[in-house]
Amino acid sequence: MPEAVAAAPQHELAAGALPKLELKNLFIGYTDRSGKTVSAVEDVSLTLANKPGVGELLVFLGPSGCGKSTILKAISGLMEPSAGQILIDGQPVSGTGRDRGMVFQSYTSFGWRTVLGNVEYGLELQGVPKAERARQAMEILEQVGLKDFAHALPKQLSGGMKQRVAIARTLVNKPRLVLMDEPFGALDPQTRWGMQSLILDVLRRQDNTVIFVTHDISEAVFLADVVFVLSHRPAKVLHRIEIPYFPERDPSLRQKPEFKQLENHLLDILGSLQVKGNIRVGL
Ligand SMILES: Nc1ncnc2c1ncn2[C@@H]1O[C@H](COP(=O)(O)OP(=O)(O)OP(=O)(O)O)[C@@H](O)[C@H]1O
Ligand SMILES: [Mg+2]
Repeated sequence: MPEAVAAAPQHELAAGALPKLELKNLFIGYTDRSGKTVSAVEDVSLTLANKPGVGELLVFLGPSGCGKSTILKAISGLMEPSAGQILIDGQPVSGTGRDRGMVFQSYTSFGWRTVLGNVEYGLELQGVPKAERARQAMEILEQVGLKDFAHALPKQLSGGMKQRVAIARTLVNKPRLVLMDEPFGALDPQTRWGMQSLILDVLRRQDNTVIFVTHDISEAVFLADVVFVLSHRPAKVLHRIEIPYFPERDPSLRQKPEFKQLENHLLDILGSLQVKGNIRVGL
């Protein structure tokens, strides 16, 4: 195991400081029409420190179907856990809230609204006046490189551009906690790398905390401050891996030995999961 990841300590919290996020003994199940329950998440506990002015990016990495989206839905308030607690800034989550924003696994723009109309949507719900919401939406569109497409319809955009609309639509509400469920899964590697840099850039500026789900090991190492590796369903936390601070997270980082070492370490962990599970998993 590389030295950088040998110890995986919990974050030291300053005395009295509330963690940004706490999952305490979380169990989540789905019940079908016949009343049969499938357990998706089992006894997941974790703590994510609050780092004001820095933000933090947590990655959930785990096999397909293990329960990653389910955990995100519970944090967003779209699903209620069967047992356990979710605390954000020390407050229990109950239902959805503007402090959290979710970017879903599939594109979720409104097809009949323009790009600008899509990004303005959340501000409209909040009753922000028209001129102000257009200003805020254009500011975010500029950050994600879509200013020139503000008046296009989603169907006129490429997959990467549509996903940038979804990201802008979430970020415009300035959520403290951004939940991203494999947002770049459908993109080609080059577009994906561009989007990863964009996310780091925008999110550091906004000082949000991000919870990011991916199957992609390189993406996890590139983006994360901390990676949680989950087991097959029902999801349990198998490893907490702190990613060392890389001052420059630019594309050349992927060639550095310490980056490759971390990738290999995660690959070993996920590889051992495949063997133990004795089934082919979509990593
Ligand atoms: N609406 C649902 N009703 C019943 N079971 C569900 C539902 N959604 C998910 N599940 C079950 O819960 C388990 C976890 O699903 P989840 O979508 O959280 O997995 P995931 O880790 O996000 O997978 P992927 O990487 O493929 O997106 C799956 O095995 C699935 O069978
Ligand atoms: Mg999923």
